[in-house]
Amino acid sequence: MTITASDLTLDVPHDTQRNRDEPSVLATPSHPSQRILFVTPEIADFVKVGGLGDVSSALPRALAAHHDIRILIPAYREVLNSGLTIRRVGSLPAHADLPACEVGEMTCADGLIIYVLLCPELYEREGGPYGTGPGGYGSGGWNDNDIRFARLSLAAAEIAAGHAGLDWQPQLLHLNDWTCGLAPAYLRWLGHTVPSVFTIHNLAYQGLYDKSRCAALGIPESAFHIEGVEYYDKLSFMKAGIVYASYVTTVSATYAQEITTPEFGCGLDGLLRCKAEQGRLSGIPNGIDDSWDPRTDAHLVQAFSANDWRGKRANADYVRHRFGLAPSAGPLFAMVSRMVHQKGVDLVIEAAPSIVQAGGQLVFIGSGEQRVEAQLDRLAERYPGAVGAYIGFAEEEARCIYAGSDFLLMPSRFEPCGLSQMYAQRFGSLPIAHRTGGLADTIEDGVTGFLFDEVNQASFMQAIQQAFSVYHSTELFYAMRRAAMTGRYHWRQSIAPYTQLYQRISAEAGVEAQAAE
Ligand code: ADP
Ligand code: GLC
Repeated sequence: MTITASDLTLDVPHDTQRNRDEPSVLATPSHPSQRILFVTPEIADFVKVGGLGDVSSALPRALAAHHDIRILIPAYREVLNSGLTIRRVGSLPAHADLPACEVGEMTCADGLIIYVLLCPELYEREGGPYGTGPGGYGSGGWNDNDIRFARLSLAAAEIAAGHAGLDWQPQLLHLNDWTCGLAPAYLRWLGHTVPSVFTIHNLAYQGLYDKSRCAALGIPESAFHIEGVEYYDKLSFMKAGIVYASYVTTVSATYAQEITTPEFGCGLDGLLRCKAEQGRLSGIPNGIDDSWDPRTDAHLVQAFSANDWRGKRANADYVRHRFGLAPSAGPLFAMVSRMVHQKGVDLVIEAAPSIVQAGGQLVFIGSGEQRVEAQLDRLAERYPGAVGAYIGFAEEEARCIYAGSDFLLMPSRFEPCGLSQMYAQRFGSLPIAHRTGGLADTIEDGVTGFLFDEVNQASFMQAIQQAFSVYHSTELFYAMRRAAMTGRYHWRQSIAPYTQLYQRISAEAGVEAQAAE
C-alpha cells in the first residue's frame, strides 16, 4: 500500500509527559481489583538485554493505576548496586538443589514495589542476567541457569502460596518467558490454585535441559511426560509454562497465530494449537512508554517533534560523527539490534554494498554472534565514511541513532513484537521490515514504513529501493515521517485487554475453588 502526502491527516498525540523517575507515575489504584506479582528475569531500570527489559519496566507501571502490581526479579549485582534501599521481608527454604534465599523489598522513586530474590551464589555475578555471552539469551549462558531460574520460578510460586512470610500475597501471577515457566508447575505441585498468565516473548528460547536435572530442581518424576514438562525426552521450562499456566499470551496478534504453525512453533505448535482452540492463547501487543519521546528525551543531542523536526539533523550529524561517517545529503540507514540469526542481520550485511553504491550510509549498533560481529567490523573497514559499526550495548547511543537515522532496518525472520520499530517510528526513522509477527501489526506499509513479504535478498532490496525513492520525493517522505511519529503505540492500549484477562482467569479460579469445596 502506498500513500500520497495529502492522504495523511495529522494526529499528534497528547500524551501527558511523564518520566519513569517522576514520583507521580503510580496513581493510587482507582480499582485495586487484583494483587498481581509480575515475575521477570530483566527490567530496564537495572538490567536490560532486549525488549523484555523494556516491557517489564513499562507494562507494570501502566497497569499500576488499575491494579496492585508488584515485581519479582533476581537480586543481580546491578539491582544491589542501584542505590535503592532493600528491606529484608521474607525467606524461603532450600528445596532439592535450589538453595535457601531471602526476599527483599525495594521501592522505586515512582512508588513501584519490587521484590528481589536475594541469593548471592546464584545472582550476584559480573555479567548479564542469562550469561556472559553477548546477544543475551543465546550462547554463553551461565551453566547453572536451570537452578537459577527454577529458583526464581519456585520463589514466585511460594510467594503466591503465602509461604514466604510477606505481608502481601498476590491473587495472580504474571510470568514472562521460559525463565519463569516452572512457576505455575511448582504451584500445582505445592497444591495451590493461584491463577497465572504466562507471556511468551520469544518461543525460540525454551530453557531445555537434560531430564536427569529434574531431581535437582525438585520436579516430581510423575510430571515428566508428554502432557507435563517433557519435550522430546528433555525437560522444557517453556513447555511447563504453557501447560500449567491458566492462560498463555504472546506479544502481538500475528505472532499468536504464527506460533500455532510448524514454521514458527518451535516444536510446540501442536500444544499451542490446543491452547488456541480452548480459547487460552491470544496476543496482546506491547507498547512504548513516555520515556521514548523525541520532544523530551534528555539523551538526544537536540529535541524535536512531529511538527518540527529540525532537531533531527543535529542528531544525524552526531551519529555520523560518532561512527566516522562523511557528511552526506543521502539517507542514513541504521540497525539497532541483538545481532543474531532471528534479526536477519545477514540480509543487511549483504545489502550494504548496494546501499552505499546508491548514496546511502549505514550504522550498526549491537552485539551477538561473534561471527556476525566480525563481519560488521570488516564491513565498516571496507566502507570507511559510509558504514559504521559499534559492537556493544549502549542505550543512549541507540536513542540517538533512532533520532538521527532516516530508516531502520529490521528484516527479522520472526519477531514476536519488536520494540525497535516502534521507537524508530516515534523518532521519525521509517522501519524497513519483514511482514511478520509484531512488525506486521505495527508498521503500515507505505504509510509509516515498508514491509516486505519474503526473507530473501530480492524482496528486502525491493523495499530498500522503495525507501530510496521515497527519500528523494521529499513531500511523501515527510508525510510518512509525520505519520510514523504520530502513531499510537502506547501501553495504555494494553491495559484493558490485560485487565479483562486477569478478571477472567481469576473468576474461573474462583469457580474452580468453589467446585472443589
Ligand atoms: P529483542 O527483545 O528481540 O531484542 P525488541 O525490538 O523487542 O527486540 O527490543 C530490543 C530492545 O533492545 C530495544 O529497546 C532496543 O533499543 C534495544 N537494543 C538492542 N540492541 C541494542 C544495543 N546494542 N544498544 C542499546 N540498545 C539496544
Ligand atoms: C522478545 C522478542 C521481541 C519482543 C520482546 C518484548 O525479545 O524477540 O520481539 O518485542 O521480547 O516482548
